[in-house]
Amino acid sequence: MDKFIIEGGTPLVGTIAISGSKNAALPIIAAALLGDSETTIHNIPRLQDIYTFNNVLRVVGAKVDFKEEENTVSIDPTSVSYLEAPYDLVRKMRASFYMLGALVGKHGEAKVSLPGGCAWGPRPVDLHLKGMEAMGINIQLEKGYVIAKADETLKGGNFTLEPSSVGATVNLLLASVLKAEKFVIKNAAKEPDVVQLCNVLVKMGADIEGIGTSKLTIRKVEALNGVKISNDPDRIELGTYMVAGAMIPGSDLTLTGCNPEHLGNFPELLRKTGTKVDVNGTVIKVKAPEKLKPVSIKTDIYPGFPTDLQAQWATMLTQAEGDSKVTDTVYFDRFSYVPELVRLGAHMHNEKNTVHIKGKAPLTGASVMSTDLRASVSLVLAAMAAENTSEVLRVYHLDRGYESLENKLNPVGAKISRVVG
Ligand code: EPZ
Repeated sequence: MDKFIIEGGTPLVGTIAISGSKNAALPIIAAALLGDSETTIHNIPRLQDIYTFNNVLRVVGAKVDFKEEENTVSIDPTSVSYLEAPYDLVRKMRASFYMLGALVGKHGEAKVSLPGGCAWGPRPVDLHLKGMEAMGINIQLEKGYVIAKADETLKGGNFTLEPSSVGATVNLLLASVLKAEKFVIKNAAKEPDVVQLCNVLVKMGADIEGIGTSKLTIRKVEALNGVKISNDPDRIELGTYMVAGAMIPGSDLTLTGCNPEHLGNFPELLRKTGTKVDVNGTVIKVKAPEKLKPVSIKTDIYPGFPTDLQAQWATMLTQAEGDSKVTDTVYFDRFSYVPELVRLGAHMHNEKNTVHIKGKAPLTGASVMSTDLRASVSLVLAAMAAENTSEVLRVYHLDRGYESLENKLNPVGAKISRVVG
């Protein structure tokens, strides 16, 4: 397993280009299976999760051509014939569960493995399944697999997501656009990843009302066409590098290829720490303050503070002059990074779904262990801010969600070397 050796203490100065979004790409790759012709998607990041999902589509028979150097994937769904997504692939990447909606939504049947848990506990899919049953899909559970069957036309109905769920909203959209007379999703997720999926489905020919709101009304159409589209930039990668520019003293970063509209009030919150944040079209400039002010946050569903930036923000707060706290209301136990940051010298502790942070804690290099995608990038942020040398183990977690991380950070001053293991 690869690890990073990181020399800390150097400011980040220069320009970083933001890649396409992983979490926005996965739903539209799945949506391509609903079309009667090829779909081509630009701005697809070269990430392990994308490679894994491309393989899941190939298992069911789709032709998938990923031109990596162009960050473009073409999907020909016309040869899909095997309507099963196996456990050994779904367990690697839970978004493979989108295959359930795509396959039953297009072919009227699907057999998809239940996804496993993840580093921070169970990730239920009960809302996906209850929503599909509310639509009229027959759901059976057998030996860890979901077996779904749908008639040509489903009566439809309505379903309320409690709590709101990105994945369930995605799966119910994929299942309903070609099947349900009329289906209403209440308390639907409004993340940009869901809005992009809705816009792509409409471009393919779907009938969806309420895009961007928490009430989506889908009406069945007879067919969908393949499309040529470009994927959104990654708002979580963007937020991560903005935090890097804020918490590493002397940093002055220019981030390009951004969509600031996807950040909600994140830029404003970052300004409250004393960080200079200038937004100009698709370019965001971030300049570290002399002293970081503590700014406590609570995560929430979009447009609230994203849970996927919770660990990064808490890491930054270890360098703020004063005490603060970070509460995650979406995932109550997404704090596996805390003991690792304490090894680097952070003064922080958890109480239920809140981490209490005493700043400023000088960080010094140590060996730390990645546990999940966003925790591992937070360890890299901390190691870059720490004195001396750190070792971040199991960086395969990082490779799932950050395209060329060390090749983006080293040119702007970081000292990260990958040891292939
Ligand atoms: C998506 O996961 C993202 N993954 C996650 O990003 C992100 O953290 C999460 O949304 C929240 O924003 C992708 O887009 C591939 P949810 P998802 O269903 O869809 C509960 C990353 O780091 N819930 O919105 O799985 C659930 O337990 C990843 O890039 C149910 O109770 O998240 C959670 O508390 C990690 N029953 C809440 O809803 C269900 O059937 C939100 O989960 C489904 C979800």
